[in-house]
Amino acid sequence: MRDHFELRDGDLAGRIGRLSVPRAGVTVETPALLPVVNPNIDTISPARLESEFGADILITNSYIIKTNEHLREEALDVGLHEMLDFHGAIMTDSGSFQLAEYGEIDTTTEEILQFQRDIGTDIATPVDIPTPPDVAREQAETDLEITRQALADAEAADTGEMLVNAPVQGSTYPDLREEAGGHADATDLDVFPVGAVVPMMNAYRYDDMVDAVAAAKRGLGVDAPVHLFGAGHPMMLALAVALGCDLFDSAAYALYARDGRYLTVRGTEHLEDLEYLPCTCPICTEHSPDDLRAAGSKRQEQLLAEHNLHVTFAELRRIKQAIRDGDLMELVEERARSHPAMLDGYRALLDHADQLEREDPASKGAFFYASNESAHRPEVARHHARMDRLTAEGHVLLTEGGIPSGDDFDATWRVVPPFGPFPRALSETYPLTAEVPERLDRDAYEQAARGVSRLVEENPDAAFTLAHDDWPESALARVPDSVELESLSAVSERLADEESDDGREEGDSTGLSDE
Ligand code: GUN
Ligand code: ZN
Repeated sequence: MRDHFELRDGDLAGRIGRLSVPRAGVTVETPALLPVVNPNIDTISPARLESEFGADILITNSYIIKTNEHLREEALDVGLHEMLDFHGAIMTDSGSFQLAEYGEIDTTTEEILQFQRDIGTDIATPVDIPTPPDVAREQAETDLEITRQALADAEAADTGEMLVNAPVQGSTYPDLREEAGGHADATDLDVFPVGAVVPMMNAYRYDDMVDAVAAAKRGLGVDAPVHLFGAGHPMMLALAVALGCDLFDSAAYALYARDGRYLTVRGTEHLEDLEYLPCTCPICTEHSPDDLRAAGSKRQEQLLAEHNLHVTFAELRRIKQAIRDGDLMELVEERARSHPAMLDGYRALLDHADQLEREDPASKGAFFYASNESAHRPEVARHHARMDRLTAEGHVLLTEGGIPSGDDFDATWRVVPPFGPFPRALSETYPLTAEVPERLDRDAYEQAARGVSRLVEENPDAAFTLAHDDWPESALARVPDSVELESLSAVSERLADEESDDGREEGDSTGLSDE
């Protein structure tokens, strides 16, 4: 059990947590964004990050500091917090990124951890190997062995109160990512960054990023705080939080600003193409695009960086509120529409619905069916699994809405796409209270048919009639042959005839209650 990370609330695999950082004497609420501070380039000062943007944690690079004589002396002399003028928690990276970039670095895990401790780092990083995507499996394995050794060196080092990262690598091999996650989790290290996803994100391979994180998460325990190294574009934060990432670091705000790029939750714009500023941050309410273009390049970079950071923090607040409200999936779904690559990422997330389902709260606000992908949400998988515990007896009528139950049937169950059938008594329980559109798609009906199959399989002695008005052929094809198919209007008519023949008039007890 880790006592420095406490989970407060959750939605999907996303969570609101509290990370205690003892050396800094602060507790950081997660999901948290760590702005990247380049000690050589002062885009937005750390003091302003703290006072104006509310950053309570940032990340900088200890290798850059160590290899610059002036910075090294100052950091050793006054400490990192005073040097940067920042009173929150400071994470430092180790030079691994430089290693990936230039092929070699002049330090070791033992040495760089000691240096990080000497300059007052709160969360330190060993020298892991950021193996790029798509390398040969042998290379991924060899690199992983080196990372594993780095973690062992970090465990052996005298790190005092300083927390230490245990990066999870493994390139694009899910089994290696999972194994690396399990190994990292078994160390006594503290924070678990999923590494080497930057090349995936630069290439818009959000589906591969999702698979890598999902695999790492399978190896890591639920109580492990997870950092997504090098991820901080506002467009993808909801997706990454939904997977269970707790910490992010953004260099994007500054790097993109340098390049004249303007971040939004829907993607990246070039300042030169903007006629309007679609944002309510202080920069965008006080300036027009022309103002920004007319500013000198230094000033323009500064203003763009501020906007970029404002939208990123705002998105993180929106995500945290969505976790509180239990509608994170609706937010992920919205963001998935911003770019086809994000849609791929969302669809990859849904491929892991069973994995998400294990952590997703059993009950939350409301399920909004917003696209055909909604048919593949974890709640649908969970409902299907629930079929195994529901018993049906006699002759059961499955209908979408409410019609008289009549004498022909022993029970009338509802079947609401995309869920499977359920006894009416469950109608008011999550997720069966879902708001679904009138014009449902094939995926929704096919999922409902899957639920019917499961119920039929589990109850071989019962007989089923499915009243199906709009079900497409593709869905009906999934319904077992033993189920009698009848149109809803035909069933209604027949039952009404029977009732008038009987001269009986019954009230609500006949089941005329729903809808
Ligand atoms: N920054 C971005 N990716 C990585 C990574 O995989 N490892 C380390 N140490 N830093 C990173
Ligand atoms: Zn703005």
